[in-house]
Amino acid sequence: MRRIENTVWWITGASSGIGRSMAQYILKNKGKVILSSRNEDALIAVAEECNTSTDNYLIIPLDLENLVKVDELLQTALNKFPKIDFLINNGGVSQRTIASETDIAVDRKIMETNFFGAIILTKAVLKIMIKQQSGHIAAVSSVVGKFGFPLRSTYSASKQALHGFFESIRAENVKNNIKISIVIPGRINTSISNNAISQDGKKHGVLDDGQANSMSPEKAAPIIIKGILKHKKEILVGGKELLMVHIRRFFPRLFYYLSNKVSAK
Ligand SMILES: NC(=O)c1ccc[n+]([C@@H]2O[C@H](COP(=O)([O-])OP(=O)(O)OC[C@H]3O[C@@H](n4cnc5c(N)ncnc54)[C@H](OP(=O)(O)O)[C@@H]3O)[C@@H](O)[C@H]2O)c1
Repeated sequence: MRRIENTVWWITGASSGIGRSMAQYILKNKGKVILSSRNEDALIAVAEECNTSTDNYLIIPLDLENLVKVDELLQTALNKFPKIDFLINNGGVSQRTIASETDIAVDRKIMETNFFGAIILTKAVLKIMIKQQSGHIAAVSSVVGKFGFPLRSTYSASKQALHGFFESIRAENVKNNIKISIVIPGRINTSISNNAISQDGKKHGVLDDGQANSMSPEKAAPIIIKGILKHKKEILVGGKELLMVHIRRFFPRLFYYLSNKVSAK
């Protein structure tokens, strides 16, 4: 397994939840981190909580929904660090709306943030990794990247799209020594449900029951990072809800029976 020490990681969605815990885990293990999301103050706070030298991190604010001037962002990163070893496309937004009643603007916002934002950044970083002839890119999907789920129609679609994209670039870049991991969290106790888009386009603003009783991001982060360091192609992380991934694969009829009964909260 590769070591974290002195490796450079670019993490989106680093201001909160899983991304925050992954950034802090890497900094505490002597890695270097580029922290990105929209909230610059929160990103600074995440890094400062680690009491580490500013030599070890760089804040690059960005909005995945409207990711422009990505080459300038990349140059900023390369001015500080000579290489990028890992990119984790983690930033994202969830959904709590019924498809038939969801404005298309909401669907587009979710796709722009979760899918297009991730692939715009990935395409830019991939060019550098091809030059380096090394690198590892991860995409944070979800169990609903494996199957559909009520109130998550476009969120699920955006995550399933990530699987298609990242599996394809894995095949294209074996010759370039670039590794790809897809992270599949079940339920992790973060603000994801609070921040999810609700029917009126505003924040759902509720910590759903399933979320509140789930694995902490501090516990999830090392599982994900160690999985990446071991070059795992898929990293499942969470609790018993992950069973649904295996039931969907091996017992599809049971899956459809159970999925009619499952709570969407
Ligand atoms: N928690 C779970 O149960 C769970 C389950 C499955 C998958 N996931 C996935 O895990 C990832 C991390 O989510 P989380 O659980 O840690 O939730 P979270 O606490 O809400 O964190 C989401 C992160 O994404 C960033 N983000 C959201 N919209 C953005 C935008 N337009 N541009 C840039 N950054 C943006 C947020 O930062 P700013 O607000 O500062 O921009 C924040 O850092 C997401 O991709 C999510 O879909 C989570």
